[in-house]
Amino acid sequence: MTKKVILDCDPGVDDALAIFLAVRSPALELLGITTVNGNVGIDQTTKNALIVLEQANASVPVYRGMKQPLEKPLYSSSDIHGKDGLGGVNLPESEQKEESLSAPDYLIEMGRKHKGQITLITVGPMTNVAVAIQKDPEAMKGYKEIISMGGGVGTGNITPVAEFNYWVDPEAVKIALEFGLPFTMLGLNVTHQTILTPNDFHFMRIVGGNEGKFISSIHQAYIDAYWRYGGYMGCVPHDSLAVAVAADPTLVETVHCHVDMATDGLTRGQSVADVLNAWNDKPKNVHVGMKVDRERFRDFIFTTLFPEHEQAYIQYKAFLSSQ
Ligand code: BDR
Ligand code: CA
Repeated sequence: MTKKVILDCDPGVDDALAIFLAVRSPALELLGITTVNGNVGIDQTTKNALIVLEQANASVPVYRGMKQPLEKPLYSSSDIHGKDGLGGVNLPESEQKEESLSAPDYLIEMGRKHKGQITLITVGPMTNVAVAIQKDPEAMKGYKEIISMGGGVGTGNITPVAEFNYWVDPEAVKIALEFGLPFTMLGLNVTHQTILTPNDFHFMRIVGGNEGKFISSIHQAYIDAYWRYGGYMGCVPHDSLAVAVAADPTLVETVHCHVDMATDGLTRGQSVADVLNAWNDKPKNVHVGMKVDRERFRDFIFTTLFPEHEQAYIQYKAFLSSQ
């Protein structure tokens, strides 16, 4: 049986790959995409979601979300994702148009309509989710779970302790954490366990037809940024992990524990995860990702994107292990 999902995102290069995977995974039924301000502004993330869907040849409704965080000022990550959020490769606009309903209202409507059935995957700042919770908590209780890319255990990428998505709107994360839905957090400590290399994107370009060429082209500047900022030869497919875990929860090992969010000061945006149970009187509100099955996650990405090229992928893997 397929799992019904909604993807809340801020495309964003790695969000774009996550959209492809959510569209293509046979384990998932992607009901809709909601956009949020994050990597770039809301006009651009909404436009980008539509562009990516067009490139993926998919017709999925897109709902525009919040244009700024609940309390914090606007901040964008265009140095990593390019000014247009998709690596600056001059993409044609999509023919598909966004829906008129707002993202929070769509989340509310779907929470009511499909009570207990939808997994909400968030791979951007959690502003839409928090606004929907504040507006109609009863409807939002109708979600089966939240799987969220954000935060981390003992690591940060925008400050030494904070991850970008959670740092942009920490008040929203706090609301979502305290709301009490089953919550899986996939932070930097797990997303950084997998790197996609320039060779991986070369493989996609060679075997993956127009889609492979598109995915490969938008990642070039993103790969350059990873080299500039972290000395990586390749990039981290953060957002894809959340989609992969929705499709196959066995890809990560988790610890069930209390997580709180620091909203201000030196630790703003830090997900404070009590993995060793130091606060044993606090509710265990989050399944915190700790370890990824790296090989199976890579397999998920390649076989979901290009199921018809499984043989070529096997050949590529054999080549890699012979090096
Ligand atoms: C997260 O921040 C964004 O830049 C990426 O799209 C990802 O969601 C990683 O910290
Ligand atoms: Ca993102």
